[in-house]
Amino acid sequence: MIPSSLIPAINTLAVAPIWLETLLVTTFAIHLLLMNIALGGTVLVACHSLSGGSKISRDLSGKLPTILALVINAGVPPLLFVKAIYAQFNYTSSVLMAVYWLVAVVALLVGYYGLYWHYYRYESMKDGGRKGLIFMVLCILLYVGFMLSNNMTLMLRPDHWLAYFDNPNGLVLNLNDTALMPRYLHFMVSALAIGGLFVAILGKRKSDQDYVATGFKWFVWATVVNIGVGLWFLMVLPREIMLIFMGKDMLATSLLGIGLVGTVALIYAGMKQKVVLSSVLTVIMVYVMVVMRHLLRDAYLAPYFKVEDIPVTGQYSPFYLFLISLVIGIISIIYMLKLMCKSGRS
Ligand code: HEM
Repeated sequence: MIPSSLIPAINTLAVAPIWLETLLVTTFAIHLLLMNIALGGTVLVACHSLSGGSKISRDLSGKLPTILALVINAGVPPLLFVKAIYAQFNYTSSVLMAVYWLVAVVALLVGYYGLYWHYYRYESMKDGGRKGLIFMVLCILLYVGFMLSNNMTLMLRPDHWLAYFDNPNGLVLNLNDTALMPRYLHFMVSALAIGGLFVAILGKRKSDQDYVATGFKWFVWATVVNIGVGLWFLMVLPREIMLIFMGKDMLATSLLGIGLVGTVALIYAGMKQKVVLSSVLTVIMVYVMVVMRHLLRDAYLAPYFKVEDIPVTGQYSPFYLFLISLVIGIISIIYMLKLMCKSGRS
């Protein structure tokens, strides 16, 4: 069977795709930054719990429920944009792995509740219970991230959809894709770095050198490890796709160059324990990586589909309404966070 015959018919878009792509990339980077803090923060709390807990892990555990709520909320806009632009690919991959995908939603609810429980019952729980709980939450977050990587790579590989005919029960994963593991690990290791950076930022706010030193230790080591994971990821990409980063596409090649130089700068800023510089560089780097990932997706889908081919109906009014709601939503969230900080609950 020809895999492209499995791709459902193309949808129409209300507005020119460039708008949706820009919003996809912008909102996804926000989701990713927050996800990194939530996941990296959970790893830090879990690791510190092994050595009997610490001021840092107690403090961090109080922030994780709010951050996870923000991760989930910030995941919704990119989800909508992915579904709008890549509908025929992403709905199909979600159906192929439906069981794992739906379990992720339930698991996330349990994990969210678990974080609240961990914080509010911290004192009353036994040490073993506390450790068990935070490691359970960590496994859940790792599971959700893995399922997202599976979905986001399975949607790019209609040739892997043929697995459905041997396994029609919603249990198809993209495990035979050599790019899956390095891609997933690249995200997970960056979470360790950004979780560490978050601790360093807390340290700077509190003028606590212990926080800053611990945070930067995680930040620097994880970034060093991620150079290896990132190169592994690049090397296992299908040759034609890898070449877009090796001169075939000027934008992709330049971004890779900026990414490599930026990584060295990140390590330098981390070693010098410069909180503001590291934070600014990290945000820039996350955007660079997110745009690279977007170009990668287009390169994977190029044999089947081009975003420019989607018919546009030109109905802009719902889009304007969305933009207004987005701005109001962001202002409201910032206002609520400010109130929370003022009340001393952050
Ligand atoms: C805290 C749990 C979560 C973790 C650890 C997590 C992690 C990740 C990771 C690692 C990716 C990149 C996957 C890849 O490209 O290989 C990703 C992408 C994505 N996540 Fe999350 N995520 C979480 C929760 C959510 C939720 C609740 C939503 C939706 C409401 C969401 C929406 C998305 C979307 C739409 C993408 C792909 C965006 C794109 O392809 O441009 N995530 N997430």
